[in-house]
This record gives sequence, structure tokens and C-alpha cells, in this order.
Amino acid sequence: MKSKKLTVPDIVAMKAAGEKITVLTAYDVSFARLIDSSEIEVVLVGDSLGNVVLGYTSTVPVTMEEMLHHARAVSRGVERALLVGDMPFMSYQTGEHDALVNGGRFLKEAGCDAVKLEGGVEICPVVRALVRAGIPVMGHIGLTPQTAGLLGGYKVQGKDTASARRLLDDARALEKAGAFAVVLECVPAQLAELITREIGIPTIGIGAGVHCDGQVLVTHDLLGMFEKFVPSFVKSYTNLAPQIREAVKAYRDEVKGGIYPDDAHSFTMKVEVAELLGDPAKK
Ligand code: KIV
Repeated sequence: MKSKKLTVPDIVAMKAAGEKITVLTAYDVSFARLIDSSEIEVVLVGDSLGNVVLGYTSTVPVTMEEMLHHARAVSRGVERALLVGDMPFMSYQTGEHDALVNGGRFLKEAGCDAVKLEGGVEICPVVRALVRAGIPVMGHIGLTPQTAGLLGGYKVQGKDTASARRLLDDARALEKAGAFAVVLECVPAQLAELITREIGIPTIGIGAGVHCDGQVLVTHDLLGMFEKFVPSFVKSYTNLAPQIREAVKAYRDEVKGGIYPDDAHSFTMKVEVAELLGDPAKK
């Protein structure tokens, strides 16, 4: 399947058209191909890479080199979807110059179409600089995993008046700074609905209810492949972990029992073994 490559304006136009935007994460070429050929509109190389692929306990240790390595692999498998690279912790918080250098690397070296970064009003000067330089930006507010420590852990955000107002201000400021979309993570559904109504760019929810313009999930959660921690908002559409374990055990048992590989999974040669050993009578 190769239909028209989706662009930032295509994604923004989906909001006005009332068409829901689907977003999934990918970290390698195999999943990128499967997701892209399933007609998901946006593929995000999330820094959730740190949790589900690299085995870190948070996204904080993820480096630019790790993100670029995986983003390059994903970009080789994406033909249609808009490809967004997640800027890792401390690749943009240190100022506009670092943000431009690192944001530019996602486009130049990894083939991404846009970058995502966490933060609201405080990050808007960086968003403006990136957009001015021609790097499309997806915002991310609510529960921002890179700074979960400051938020008191992985908690729902915007539950009281002050923090709900702050998130509405953040969303408006990101739109004004030039972001083309904003992820709302772990915010009450009513607040996400209000923000979605109040801003002109698409909201992409994760744990933010049904009224967002689109939804994003970590693919390993959707497939039931990451067993360490499953947030309550995640819906697993299949449960691959036990199936994978079952297949791996069947392989182990067949190898140990001499059942695999059988004739159907082996090669034959055109000469007889005796011929290879030579005719002892001629010696
Ligand atoms: O890193 C990630 O996968 C994300 C999404 C969950 C939004 O930021």
C-alpha cells in the first residue's frame, strides 16, 4: 500500500473535517511497516522507547543518539504516515540553540517530518524558534513523563481549578507559538473536551477521554506486549505476551526433542554422502 504521504496540513485539516486522528508509537522497521500499512495517520518514535525497548525505568535517561538510531529504522518502514520524533529530556530544555540543533537532526538525519516536545507556556520560546526554522512541532502537556518528578509522579493533571486553567493556558500558548497539534496526557475528559473546543489545532489524547481530535497509544500496550506496568487508560486490543511465550516454549521443546528442524525445514544436496567420501576401492 502506497497512498499519498501525509503532511502537517493534512493532519491539521482532519480536525476541521471532524475526522479522528490515529497515532501510534514505533521503534523499529517491522512495527513501522505494520502500523503504516494499517493506515495510522501519525507514527511517533516516542521516548517511551526508554521504557518498552531499552529497559530504563523512565524516559529521563534516553539520549539523542538512541532516539535517532530508532527513528532512522522507523523512517525506513514509513511511507504514508506523518513521522514525528520525540525530543528526549535535556535536548531542548537547555535553550533555543540546542533545540534547533537537536530538532534539526530528527529531520536531517532520521527522516522525521516533525518533532514532539513536552511542556507548556515555559517552552513556547523554543517552539517558536523551531517553527521559525521550519521544524513542525507537536506539543505535549498534562502528565509529562520527562518531568514526572516535579508533578509528584505519574498522576492525572488538571483536576483542580488552578491546574486546569494552567493547562488551558498552556494549550492556547502552544497554538500561538506555532505548534500544529498537542498531546494531552492523563487529563480529565471534560477538560480535554474544553481544550479541544478552545484551540484550533488538533488535540491528541492519551488518557484524556473520547472528545480529543485524535488518540495515541504506546503500541506495546495496545498489543499487550509490555507487562511491567499497564496504565488504567490503556486498552489492550490483543494479549501477545502469553502468545509469544507459548511460541518460544514450543520452539524450545521441539529443538530439545529433535523435532525441529524436520525434513520440510531442511535442505537436501544433489550428491550422495558416499560420493563425497570417495570410492574406497580406488584407493
Ligand atoms: O513517548 C511516547 O510514547 C509519548 C506518547 C505516549 C504520547 O510521548
